[in-house]
Amino acid sequence: MISAEEEIRIRRLESNGDRSGFRSGNIELDRFFQRYAGQNQFRHHIGTTYVAIQAGGITGFITVSSGEMMAEELPKLLRSRLPAYPLPILRVARLAVDERFQGHGIGRLLLRAMLELALEMRDRVGCTGVVVDAKPEAVDFYSGLGFKTVELVSGALGDRPEPIAMFLPIRQIAAAMAEGDEPAIGQKD
Ligand SMILES: CC(C)(COP(=O)(O)OP(=O)(O)OC[C@H]1O[C@@H](n2cnc3c(N)ncnc32)[C@H](O)[C@@H]1OP(=O)(O)O)[C@@H](O)C(=O)NCCC(=O)NCCS
Repeated sequence: MISAEEEIRIRRLESNGDRSGFRSGNIELDRFFQRYAGQNQFRHHIGTTYVAIQAGGITGFITVSSGEMMAEELPKLLRSRLPAYPLPILRVARLAVDERFQGHGIGRLLLRAMLELALEMRDRVGCTGVVVDAKPEAVDFYSGLGFKTVELVSGALGDRPEPIAMFLPIRQIAAAMAEGDEPAIGQKD
C-alpha cells in the first residue's frame, strides 16, 4: 500500500511498466493511459507521458506533445507584436491522478514539471506557452494555477465533451519559476 506522504518522483513512462491498476475515476483517461499512452510514445512518437512514482507505484500521469497556435487565438493583451504564423507551444493533452491520491499536490507537481519542460523548449526550440485541453470539471484546477481560456481554431482532440483549451504564457511561467512560486504556479489575474 502506497501512502500519500511517500516521496514523489517524476519520470518518463517506460514501455514495460504495469499500468493496469491505475484508476482516476475517469474511465476514458484510464483507458488512454493503459492502452494508448505507450504506443503513442514508443511507436508513433506523437506524445510523451510522464508519471508520478511513489514507493514504486504510479500515482499520476501527464501526457504532452508539441503543438502550435495562432496569435489571433490569444487574448488581445498577449497578442501584440506576435507574428501571424503558427506559434510553438507545449500541449498538455491529458492529466490524471489515481483517485486514492487526489488532493495531495500530485496534479500540481506533474504540471509544474511540464512548465519546466516548456522553459527548456523555449531555450532549445522556441515555445510561447502551455496549452491544456481541460475537461470541464478540471477548468477550476487550471484557472487556479493561472491558465486562461482561449478559443482555439486548430488542434482539437475530437474528444466528447470537447475539452476547453486554456493557455499559460511562457513569460508568466518563467516569472513564477524564478520566484519558486508555490502553491500557485502563475498569477491568477
Ligand atoms: C484534476 C486532477 C488532475 C488534480 O490533481 P490532484 O493531485 O488531485 O490536485 P492537487 O492536489 O495537485 O491540487 C492542486 C490545487 O488544485 C485544487 N484542485 C484539485 N482538483 C480540482 C478540481 N477538479 N477543481 C478545482 N480545483 C481543484 C486543489 O484543491 C489544490 O488547490 P490548493 O492549492 O488551493 O489547495 C485530479 O483530481 C484528477 O485526476 N481528476 C480526475 C481526472 C481529471 O479530471 N483530469 C483532468 C483532465 S484535464
